[in-house]
Amino acid sequence: MLDALLREGAARHQRGDLSGAADCYRRVLAQRPKDGNALNLLGVAARQQGDLANALRLSARAVALNPQSPVFLANRGAALAEAGSLAEAAAVLRQVLALRPDDAVSLRNLGQLLSSQGKAAEAIAPLRRAVELSPGQPEPLLALAHAARESGDREAAITAGRAALAAAEARGAGALADQARFLLAAQGEDTAPDRAPADYVRALFDQYAPRFDQDLTGKLGYRTPALLAEMIEAAGVAPEKSLQVLDLGCGTGLSGLALAPFAARMEGVDLSSRMLAEAARRGCYAALHEADLLAFLPAHEGRFGLVAAADVLNYLGDLAPALAGIRKALTPGGIAAFSIETMEGEEAYRLGEGMRFRHRPAHVLALAETAGLRLLSRRAVTLRQERGEPVLGELMLFLS
Ligand SMILES: C[S@@+](CC[C@H](N)C(=O)[O-])C[C@H]1O[C@@H](n2cnc3c(N)ncnc32)[C@H](O)[C@@H]1O
Repeated sequence: MLDALLREGAARHQRGDLSGAADCYRRVLAQRPKDGNALNLLGVAARQQGDLANALRLSARAVALNPQSPVFLANRGAALAEAGSLAEAAAVLRQVLALRPDDAVSLRNLGQLLSSQGKAAEAIAPLRRAVELSPGQPEPLLALAHAARESGDREAAITAGRAALAAAEARGAGALADQARFLLAAQGEDTAPDRAPADYVRALFDQYAPRFDQDLTGKLGYRTPALLAEMIEAAGVAPEKSLQVLDLGCGTGLSGLALAPFAARMEGVDLSSRMLAEAARRGCYAALHEADLLAFLPAHEGRFGLVAAADVLNYLGDLAPALAGIRKALTPGGIAAFSIETMEGEEAYRLGEGMRFRHRPAHVLALAETAGLRLLSRRAVTLRQERGEPVLGELMLFLS
């Protein structure tokens, strides 16, 4: 009877009915509280529903009941990784691999974890093995291409990127093919698209979310939100909580925190649900929207007195649609405030090896003018550090 209930839960789980599956697992656990399979699966469902605290608790209980189960350990590792406990997650995945050396998914997960920890060179071996064990699959090839890029091996990044593109095309996996093309374009091997693929941005920031604040404000010396706030105040906007504010690409809300003194009410938009979950915890947003800013802006005409984008427009190449959208979303006399990463040269923008776009300031000014935005002020700054090098940029303020 209970085994049948567990099977029903697993079948619902496979169909994507997470709450129905969780309900079955809970009913099993009500009668058999030490059922490791039910604890493990309920933990997986919790993780998929974004409830990381429960996923961590349940996966720990499942592993305590059966410390040698590679499946329980792999799910524990996945929960730890999503919660940002990367070193602990890597240790658990190594336990899985000690039990099952050829578990391709754990090899790929370990490789991605090591890359996230800044150990891209160490990630190459497990990712190469994952590629060997999963012929024709684009995901491990793409992970390998990223690790090679991050460890500075451009040739290996291009080889793996091309193989990932071929595999994705062969499987009709359009979103993965776009990501492989984007990686190749950042290596100068393909023409740059006019924006970073939304799936790439979402996955990047979903996995970064638990560590973002610590990294950015700590080792990367990020202070764009505070500098934008300074410029807004210098332009004559008093920090008297008087404006309807829109924080584009709000991330975890570091920018919202700096903009809060100007906001009677603030909304945030972001592609990444995990970043938004962190932002929600700050308590400074009246509404948070999981959306692409290019779709959100035109649908909110004349709604905001201040629209800001801190460290966001570098995920877009062609800024014309974003600037037109910002102008449209502003009230007459409203203010646009944003940062760009800058470059010299003739082109309007360039995709850098770090997979973000740099823009030529004169071109951005021309686009803003075309969109109907009038320059209030601009300031050249160091936006943050990257691999010990300063990232140069500009902060710009416009009046609608
Ligand atoms: C580097 S973070 C900056 C976050 C925040 N503004 C801050 O200053 O800390 C960039 C954020 O922009 C979001 N983003 C990038 N492109 C986007 C788009 N087209 N639409 C919505 N959000 C986007 C990413 O998901 C990420 O959370």
